[in-house]
Amino acid sequence: MIDYLHWRYATKKFDPARKVPEKEFAQLLETLRLSPSSFGLQPWRFIVVRDEKLRRQLRPHVWNQPQVTDASHFIVFCALRKMDADYVRSYVKRIARERTVAPGSLSSYEQMMLGFLKGRTPAEISHWMKLQVYLALGMFLSECARRKIDACPMEGFEPEKVDGLLGLPKEGLEAVVLCAVGYRAKDDAFAALKKVRFDKHEIFIEK
Ligand SMILES: Cc1cc2nc3c(=O)[nH]c(=O)nc-3n(C[C@H](O)[C@H](O)[C@H](O)COP(=O)(O)O)c2cc1C
Repeated sequence: MIDYLHWRYATKKFDPARKVPEKEFAQLLETLRLSPSSFGLQPWRFIVVRDEKLRRQLRPHVWNQPQVTDASHFIVFCALRKMDADYVRSYVKRIARERTVAPGSLSSYEQMMLGFLKGRTPAEISHWMKLQVYLALGMFLSECARRKIDACPMEGFEPEKVDGLLGLPKEGLEAVVLCAVGYRAKDDAFAALKKVRFDKHEIFIEK
């Protein structure tokens, strides 16, 4: 895996002519579906923007970064706008169904989740949901690298504009981070840049 992590980089210039085969892209999406999340609550949605016109419309709201229109695929990683007790209860019902256990056997787990939500403000819950989305992004980037598919995670965008264009508020969603996926252009100068990372002794602390 380490070799792949050296190989990957945040791709600035994609080859617009090269498309990730749909079968492989579906496998990448599967890493998102299988990503872990706090309590398993999966407070996310992932929008695959396939419409080229929509991608062109998005571009000015993504700091005009060319990856939006040139990459093979483009994903908007979204968090839910709110999570309430009903959401938790329906999730618990789902666990019971999937694992064929009595819902009552999960009541302490349910209470723990409800207690977690109750002790937090809406802003704190929103922040916590976004953290889960970033974890899914990390899993996704690793899997892209492992398959030698290029990607560029992107926070350089105007959230309200992107949300508005995609109609996210009415779906109870907000854009958190974006990701372009595809293959690097041969002349992307960033591919050859040396990685800049802190040394081990600077970031690992043993106590
Ligand atoms: C959450 C996140 C947001 C980022 N946003 C952008 C972006 O909007 N545009 C861009 O070109 N690169 C973006 N990057 C790429 C980082 O600048 C890049 O990962 C970092 O400089 C390390 O370089 P490397 O990934 O090429 O090794 C982002 C990276 C992350 C993790």
